[in-house]
Amino acid sequence: MLRTKIAGIGYYVPEKVVTNHDLTKVMDTTDEWIQERTGIVERRYGKKHEETTTTMAARAAEVAIERAGISKEDIDFIIFATLSPDFYFPGCGVLLQRELGITNSEAGALDIRNQCSGFVYGLSVGDQFVRSGMYKNILLVGSEMHSMGLDFSTRGRNVTVIFGDGAGAVILQPTEEEGRGILSTALHSDGTYAEKLAFVCPGAHGGYHDKYIEETPDYGFPDVEYGEMFITERMMETGMLFPNMEGQFVFKMAVQKFPEVILETLDKAGLKKEDINMLIPHQANLRISQFVQRRMGLRDDQIWNNIQKFGNTTAASIPIALCEAVEAGAVKKGDVVCLAAFGSGFTWGGAVIRW
Ligand code: COA
Repeated sequence: MLRTKIAGIGYYVPEKVVTNHDLTKVMDTTDEWIQERTGIVERRYGKKHEETTTTMAARAAEVAIERAGISKEDIDFIIFATLSPDFYFPGCGVLLQRELGITNSEAGALDIRNQCSGFVYGLSVGDQFVRSGMYKNILLVGSEMHSMGLDFSTRGRNVTVIFGDGAGAVILQPTEEEGRGILSTALHSDGTYAEKLAFVCPGAHGGYHDKYIEETPDYGFPDVEYGEMFITERMMETGMLFPNMEGQFVFKMAVQKFPEVILETLDKAGLKKEDINMLIPHQANLRISQFVQRRMGLRDDQIWNNIQKFGNTTAASIPIALCEAVEAGAVKKGDVVCLAAFGSGFTWGGAVIRW
């Protein structure tokens, strides 16, 4: 039976380390608050004017390509998951193709906008393409340059302290090796709460979504004119140019959806929670991961957390964590690896892989 395997994996994080103490110099926050609520100690920020979401993705992709033992010209499809693209359009998929110097125009490039679950969505899409026989070497990346789009004033502290920059990449290939590869995936969404964790401006809504935003009065929409889709002065003044999050609401949804989707994905693969060798949760918040760990009855060595040093890198967090776990020897051939993500949308999903 044809399945999809991860043939190569790599990650890249920028050199610049930004500690909680560094953030206390620009906003009213403390190291204690951040560590206690999120587990985060430090995060990385890309080099302004030199690094972008695309360039970081390219560095991660180069490692994954080399480890898969293929050449970049072998890549027949690119899937790029990010919420912090270099441009509003075109998407990062084609920019990555150019950055890697891939001249093969037969290769398609697809951009995925599913925020924290973007990598899991991309994995599921890639899995379908590989199993159908359509593609043989898919490059899937999750990359985020959050530092360019955060509010570094006290107004934005609940969001800004959480996020960091980085990229992770995998090469997806077909395998006929019995029992190996991606065993199942599950994808979900519920747009009811789209604005609970959102970055709504600039956008083409022209104020239409005002009716959904009752709890965030500071972010009321301006009465925009045609042609004002991108940036208005009011957006600058009110901070609408930054992400907005109702943290407690997101937290409550996350601790419900993570266990649900993990059990569902295991069930689809004919497995039970006792079969998990390694759980790689999206690194949303260490407290969320710890809750999920307890709920799943996992030991500390059965879950991988690195949010302490990288923060929440959204679409990049799962491939970065998975790559670290593989490099550390914590994921071995034959292991059952479970991936799970939840985030803005809301969208959530899971995957079970026999490594
Ligand atoms: N430093 C210091 N104080 C802060 C702060 C910061 N960085 N951010 C918020 N606060 C303050 C608030 O202003 C509030 O003060 P008040 O009580 O005087 O009004 C207080 O801390 C509590 O705020 P609240 O938002 O209720 O905190 P919380 O305990 O819910 O923790 C999060 C905030 C964001 C850490 C938490 O809700 C969370 O992690 N949610 C999930 C977020 C997430 O996972 N997002 C990504 C999804 S993939």
